[in-house]
This record gives sequence, C-alpha cells and structure tokens, in this order.
Amino acid sequence: MKILVTPRSFKNSVNDEAREKLERFAEVKAVRPEKPFTEDELIALLDGCDGYVAGLDNVTAKVIENCPQLKVISRWGVGYDKVDTAAASKAGITVTYTPGVMAVSVAELALGLMLDCARRITVQDGQVRGGAWAPINGMELFGKTVGIIGYGAIGKQLGRLTNGIGMTTYAYDPFMNEAYAKEHNVLAADIDFIVRNCDIVSVHVPYMESTKNIISRERIFSMKDGAILINAARGGLVDEAAAAEALQSGKLAAAAFDAFEQEPLKDSPLLTAPNAILLPHTGSHTVDATKRMGMLAVDNVIRELSGTDCGYRVK
Ligand SMILES: NC(=O)c1ccc[n+]([C@@H]2O[C@H](COP(=O)([O-])OP(=O)(O)OC[C@H]3O[C@@H](n4cnc5c(N)ncnc54)[C@H](O)[C@@H]3O)[C@@H](O)[C@H]2O)c1
Repeated sequence: MKILVTPRSFKNSVNDEAREKLERFAEVKAVRPEKPFTEDELIALLDGCDGYVAGLDNVTAKVIENCPQLKVISRWGVGYDKVDTAAASKAGITVTYTPGVMAVSVAELALGLMLDCARRITVQDGQVRGGAWAPINGMELFGKTVGIIGYGAIGKQLGRLTNGIGMTTYAYDPFMNEAYAKEHNVLAADIDFIVRNCDIVSVHVPYMESTKNIISRERIFSMKDGAILINAARGGLVDEAAAAEALQSGKLAAAAFDAFEQEPLKDSPLLTAPNAILLPHTGSHTVDATKRMGMLAVDNVIRELSGTDCGYRVK
C-alpha cells in the first residue's frame, strides 16, 4: 500500500507520532510543495498511490480521473473546497476531513482578543514602547453580555469560556441546537437582538453566500455604543470599511480581526483605525491543534484503507 502526503507540516516534529503511525501502516511518499502543484505534477506524484493525505493542493477532476488506483483522499484540514468532491464521488473515492480539531484553539484566541479589546492590552503595550505612561480605563468582562454568531464547534467552545468568566452568553445559529445551548447555559437569540444588545459580538460562521457581509454596515452601526467586535472566522463576513469607520468615530470601543477580505492585509482602513487588533489568520496555529489535525488525518486514511468508515467522510 502506498500513500502520498503533501501537507507542509507533516515533517515537523510536532507530527512525529502521526508520521510514525502512517509509516507503520504503508509506504509513505511525503512531498513538501514549494508552490502549488500543477495537475500533471500531482498526477505523477499520485501514480500507484492508494491513499492521499492532502494539504492545500487543487485536486481537480482531471487529477482524480487520472489516478485510477486512488481510493481515499484524507484532507489535512477542515475545508475541502480545493477537492472536486463530485468527481471523487463519481470515481468511488472517499474524501475525509478533520473537523473540530482546532475549535479550542480558535475559541481561546477569540477570548484572548475580547480581553485584549476590553483592557487595551496591545494598545497600551504600544504606548509604553513609545515612551508613554498613561493607563487607559478599560472594561471588565464579568457580568457583561457576549453574542456568538455561529454556534458550531468554535462557538460552543467559546460559550464555555465566556460563561466561565461570568459573562451572559447569547448565541445565534439558524441550525441552533437549543437543547445543547440550554444545557450549557447559552441563550438562543436572533442575530439582530444580539448585535443591538450585546457588549461584545464575536463571529464564528463559515463564509458562504448566505453569510457574506453578515455583519454589515447597518448591523455595525446598530451595535451598542462602545461595543467590541471580534472576527476570528473568515474575511468577507464583516464590512471592514464600516468597522474602521466605527472605530474612528468611537462607535466601537475596539475590534479584533484574525481574518480579512484580502490576506495578507494591505491598504486597509483597519490598519490606521484606533483600537483595532489585527492578526495574521493565526487562530488554529497551536501545537495542540496541529498535532490533533495530523493524528486525525492519518487515522482517517488508515481506517478508510482498512475498510472502516472513519466517521469523518465528506458527504
Ligand atoms: N481564525 C482561524 O484560524 C480559523 C480556524 C478555523 C476556522 N475558522 C473559521 O471559523 C468558522 C467556524 O468554524 P467551526 O469549526 O465552528 O465550524 P462549524 O461548521 O462547526 O460551525 C459553524 C456554525 O455556523 C452556523 N451557521 C451557518 N450559517 C449561519 C448563519 N447564516 N448565521 C449564523 N450561523 C450560521 C452553522 O449552523 C454552524 O453551527 C469556519 O467556517 C472558518 O471560517 C477560522
């Protein structure tokens, strides 16, 4: 049995356990792409492979049609938009992915961003480095309200954390699991109720046609005066120009972004907006999440090639 592996972090020491496990199971051909593979390069690399642990390669219909021996594509990640899943299904190839493995990491980052916005940690650090010594009055989170837009894997972890520090937690999700929310002391609410009434709004929905610009200009300016906005999900969910304006005018006390319409970020009004924390899409970048993702991607390909449903098939 032969397996191609292309994620760049496969050879990092954090993935030693996953790599050793895979090597005990099959012959492993690990390739680290310096730039995206062309279709022909991928077809050549996949020649004779039964399994494929895929990084961010474009797995097109042409690639799939030209790899008759391939049985399983195990995506090393949550997204599978770069894999032509329709072509894979037509060819009888199982596609798997690794959902939920980074939920704690992203939720902890979102909580960190809330605390930073509330206490101006990054802002004051910059001021001290610039020679100033003028403490800013911040806001406590205990007793305040937070609204989580998108109560999925990350939203649920975040609710656990915000409840843990004594916030009242609301959540909006069109597919809300009301019983789960109730059990975890999270109040189900409409998106506009949350946006208008919460001290902090944190966005955790996927980017889709229906969620594009979900935190629109109108919604930003309907937020409470002095509210805080967090986007640690995807660019395109929040109107960034409107958020920058709301920061300039003081409508928003602070905002934090880990994802942007255009990445890397450049020529954005957010770069000069006051009280904006801007991060390089770092939400899932922890040793723990990387290790969990590697183990799950490897387990998925091993289970599927051993004839078992791994439980993480793309439907
Ligand atoms: N910053 C990072 O590094 C990072 C890392 C991982 C994921 N993310 C982002 O976070 C998002 C959420 O991740 P997740 O693992 O929680 O996904 P998930 O699929 O578990 O949860 C997403 C939730 O959003 C809900 N949803 C769908 N449409 C909605 C809408 N119109 N309004 C409100 N909720 C809606 C879904 O019902 C689901 O419960 C991802 O799609 C991704 O964009 C960011």
